[in-house]
Amino acid sequence: MKFLVGSDHAGLSLKRQLIERLRAQSVDVVDVGTDSAASCDYPDFALAVARGVAAGEADFGLLCCGTGQGMAMTANRVPGVRAAVVADTFTARSTREHNDANVLCLGERVVGAGLAGDILDLFRTTPFAGGRHQGRVSKINALDGAKAARS
Ligand code: RB5
Repeated sequence: MKFLVGSDHAGLSLKRQLIERLRAQSVDVVDVGTDSAASCDYPDFALAVARGVAAGEADFGLLCCGTGQGMAMTANRVPGVRAAVVADTFTARSTREHNDANVLCLGERVVGAGLAGDILDLFRTTPFAGGRHQGRVSKINALDGAKAARS
């Protein structure tokens, strides 16, 4: 399994802790940055991760910023990406089972490192349930076609 990960300055510390966690679980990790605490723009890193996931370069993306929100807003502009902001374990499991989310967005100013680790573990290990959820996800994916046709 492979993760593409990115953060801005506000998510850097959480990202580093979660990279360690993933590597300890033998997950292949590619970090697209940022690498310093200097203020930077979250869309740059969200786009790099989202485009890579959409291109099939990794199974999942992980994006950390202050809240997770700006990362998700950006990542969800990329066709094929279903990015979810998660701050609890129920949603971590559900967004994989129901939404087939492929990018996890976390807020370092929102969740502690312990909870973030549990969320990441659940996100990584929970399969998409398919069944009645497949048609709903297909309707989301159909919107990507409309988006791509306009751009
Ligand atoms: C940076 O100050 C902050 O705006 C950013 O990390 C994120 O929370 C945006 O959604």
